[in-house]
Amino acid sequence: MSYNLLKGKKGIIFGALDNKSIAWKVAEKAHEEGAVFTLSNTPIAIRFGEINVLSEKCNAPVIPADATSVPDMEKVIRESMEHLGGKIDFILHSIGMSMNVRKSREYDDLDYDFYHKTMDISAMSFHKMLQVAKKLDAINEWGSVVALSYIAAQRTLYRYNDMADAKAMLESIARSFGYIYGREKHIRVNTISQSPTRTTAGSGVKGIDALFDFTERMSPLGNATAEECAGFCIVLFSDLSRKITMQNIFHDGGFSSMGMSLKAMTQYNKCLEDEE
Ligand SMILES: NC(=O)c1ccc[n+]([C@@H]2O[C@H](COP(=O)([O-])OP(=O)(O)OC[C@H]3O[C@@H](n4cnc5c(N)ncnc54)[C@H](O)[C@@H]3O)[C@@H](O)[C@H]2O)c1
Repeated sequence: MSYNLLKGKKGIIFGALDNKSIAWKVAEKAHEEGAVFTLSNTPIAIRFGEINVLSEKCNAPVIPADATSVPDMEKVIRESMEHLGGKIDFILHSIGMSMNVRKSREYDDLDYDFYHKTMDISAMSFHKMLQVAKKLDAINEWGSVVALSYIAAQRTLYRYNDMADAKAMLESIARSFGYIYGREKHIRVNTISQSPTRTTAGSGVKGIDALFDFTERMSPLGNATAEECAGFCIVLFSDLSRKITMQNIFHDGGFSSMGMSLKAMTQYNKCLEDEE
């Protein structure tokens, strides 16, 4: 069902790889809600992923860019404004990658070149996106920029590794830039801390199935799906959330406020009985 929440709004959606991607679901919903937008991803992701299918479905051109490159970022934002016929209203940063996670390097044995890359791709790219957008004066007043985060920014989760540091930095960028962008241009900057979700990036974390089951049992409302996350992104892009900025908002079925739940305790007890 559409509420036309983004009617007349223009945007850029970064990070749709395939139909499991959170950004993919956001694009589908933004289209349903009346927005026009461009899509962006790396040349390699465009070649090996399915973004062209999404592009056709949403009538949204794809602009290749490596989010760690400032010139690429300038190109995406300039070309998006040209294509969309003026300034934009929303940006989604749905980008993350860690070679340390991919190569199973433990946190006390990190490869520092990989570590730099994790921070650049998963966090600093958000600053680059915001800085370029501000310098080009690309976003309309009361526009909204959203990045996707994870609770490992606040709490230690086994195997999330250097991505935890990247998410902590990402959330801090939202606050620091959000202050300046809010003060000068009334532009909102927030992060959404999403439940574990079965996507390509999500599956990169070894043991995601156990984690997924654990958070499902711990959350009174259950894990939030990619579609539900997309719905919340739309609310943050819409005019219904004009005074929310510099926030990290947990979209996790209540997981972040839990210590122990009945469902998790029941399962844990079963394992203890098995041990006896
Ligand atoms: N899946 C989860 O469990 C989960 C939970 C919380 C937060 N998140 C976050 O959601 C966001 C989207 O991830 P997803 O789960 O939809 O997985 P995904 O793999 O579908 O998306 C990650 C995207 O990042 C893009 N990317 C990687 N390097 C890039 C670069 N240099 N420049 C531009 N794009 C680049 C990839 O091409 C891909 O499209 C990430 O920030 C991720 O950390 C995911």
